[in-house]
Amino acid sequence: MKTSTRIESLSQHIGQEVELKGWVSNKREGKGIAFVILRDGSGYCQCVVTEESAGAEALAEATKLSLECSVILTGTVLADEKQVGGVEVQVNSLTTVGGSENYPISKKEHGVEFLMDQRHLWLRSARQWAIMRIRNTIIFSIHKYFQEQGFVQMDAPIFTGNACEGTSTLFETDFYGDPAYLSQSGQLYGEAMAMALGKIYTFGPTFRAEKSKTRRHLSEFWMIEPEMAFYDIFQNMDCIEGMLQAVVKDVLANCQEELKTIGRNTAVLESSLGAFPRMTYDQAVRIIKGEENVNGVNSIASLEEELAAKQAELAQIEAQIAEKEEQLKEPGLKKGQMNFYQSKVIEFKQIKSDLEEELRNIPQWIESARTFEYGNDFGGSDETVLTRLFDRPVMVYDWPHEVKAFYLKRNPEDTRFARGVDVLAPEGYGEIVGGGERETDVDMLIGKIHEHELPMEAFEWYLDLRRYGSVPHSGFGLGLERMVTWVCKLKHVRESIPFPRMYGRLTP
Ligand code: 4AD
Ligand code: MG
Repeated sequence: MKTSTRIESLSQHIGQEVELKGWVSNKREGKGIAFVILRDGSGYCQCVVTEESAGAEALAEATKLSLECSVILTGTVLADEKQVGGVEVQVNSLTTVGGSENYPISKKEHGVEFLMDQRHLWLRSARQWAIMRIRNTIIFSIHKYFQEQGFVQMDAPIFTGNACEGTSTLFETDFYGDPAYLSQSGQLYGEAMAMALGKIYTFGPTFRAEKSKTRRHLSEFWMIEPEMAFYDIFQNMDCIEGMLQAVVKDVLANCQEELKTIGRNTAVLESSLGAFPRMTYDQAVRIIKGEENVNGVNSIASLEEELAAKQAELAQIEAQIAEKEEQLKEPGLKKGQMNFYQSKVIEFKQIKSDLEEELRNIPQWIESARTFEYGNDFGGSDETVLTRLFDRPVMVYDWPHEVKAFYLKRNPEDTRFARGVDVLAPEGYGEIVGGGERETDVDMLIGKIHEHELPMEAFEWYLDLRRYGSVPHSGFGLGLERMVTWVCKLKHVRESIPFPRMYGRLTP
C-alpha cells in the first residue's frame, strides 16, 4: 500500500492533490454536498464532497458514511483559515475501506463507566487523542532531558523478592513455586546501577495493590526513577525541578493544538517554568495550619472566603437553571431554541455539580487543616490546602522519619527528620514526585529494615552497596500518569494511560 499524506502536513500541500487515509469522526450533509471530518491519528481535517468535484457515486458513498467508517480519499488541498489546521480538502474520489454500523460512542454525553468499558474505541475521540499525544510528548521529553544530562537508562526487574515501598501494597505472584512480587519501584536496583554508572534512570511499569478508588491511584503505573551518585538532597531537588520544567516547556512548545482540544488553560504551566518554592515539612505544616501566610494569604481564611464565594455562585447558577427550565415550558418553542435551552441546562447543571463538589470539599479541607497533627504524613486534603496557595509545584523536604520509607537518610543536623522530598503539583493535584537522599549507614538501614518488619535476607545485596564504596546518593520517582493528569488537568488519572489498571478495572 503506498503511503499517503498525513493530515498534520496538509498545510505544506496547498493547491496539490493528496491522498488521505483515515476514519470518519463526524459528518454533515446538505443538498448535493457532504462534509466529512476525517481523522488519521495525526490530526483532523474537513473534507468536502460535491457532485461536481467527486461525481455522483462518490457523493452517494459519502452520504452513507457513518461514524468511524474507514476511508481512503483523494482531493485538492485548499487553504481555509476557518477550518481546523487552516485547510480543507475538496474531495475528488472516495472509497470506504471498513464500515462501522451503530458505533457505540455517539456524540451525546456518555457516563464515564460506559466510556471506560469502551476504552478500546474511546481512545479514538479527539479528547483522548490529545491526551495520548501529550503523554507521548512527556515521555519523549523525559528521555531527552536525562539523555542530554548524561544519564544512562536502565531497566529494573518486574519480578522482585522484596518490598520497596511497604508491604501493604504488594501484588504477590508465583515464581516457580516461590512467592515473588510485582515491583513497586525500581529504586533499589537503580541505586546499584548508580554505583556502577554514576547517573541512571529507570522508565518502567510499577505496581501497587491499593484497594482504593481515588482519582490518583492506579494499580499499574509507569514510573521514572533517576538515581545519582554523589548527589545530596538539594542537588536532587535541582534535578527534579530541571526535569519537570523541561517537560512542561516541551509540552507548551509542541502541544498547543492538543492543549486547546482539551480546553487546558496553560497559565499555571507557564508559571511552573519559574523556580519552585522549597520548604521543610515544618514550614509546610505551619502554612497548612494557618500559622504562617504565603504572600499575605492565609490558608484557612482564604478557604473560608472561597466557601462563601462558591455558595453565592451556586445560588446564581441555580437561578439560571430555573430560568432556562421556565423558558423551555413556553408554548410554541422552535426546535433550535429548545435545543439551545436544553444544552444550556445541561451545561449549567454540570457547573452546579462541580460547585456542589467543591462545597462538599472545602469544609473538609478547612477541618483537616485545623486539626492536622504535627508528625503525620500529608493526606490529599493537606496537599490541596498547601498547594492552593501556589501557582506552580511546591517541594516539601525533611519529613518526620517515621512516616517515610526505610531507605531515606536522616538529616545529620536533626535526626528526627529524614531527607525525603515530595513534589506537590498545584491545582489540587498533589504528590507527583517522591524521592530523597539515601541512607548510607549500614546500621541505620538494618535498624529501619527491622522497624518496617521487612525480611533481612532479601536486603543483603542492598546493604552490600553500603559495604563496598558507599557514597552519598539521591534519587526520585515521578509517576508518569500523575504528571500527565496534572499537565492535562484531568479529573481522574484513568484518562492518562491507554488501558488503566485499577481497583475494580482489568478490562478492556
Ligand atoms: O512516592 P513513591 O511511592 O516513591 C517511590 O516509589 C520511590 N521508590 C521513588 C524513588 O525515590 N525512586 O512513588 C513515586 C511516585 C509518586 O510520587 C506518584 O507520582 C507515583 O509514583 N505513584 C502513583 N501513581 C499512580 N498510582 C499509584 N498508585 C501511585 N503510587 C505512586
Ligand atoms: Mg510518595
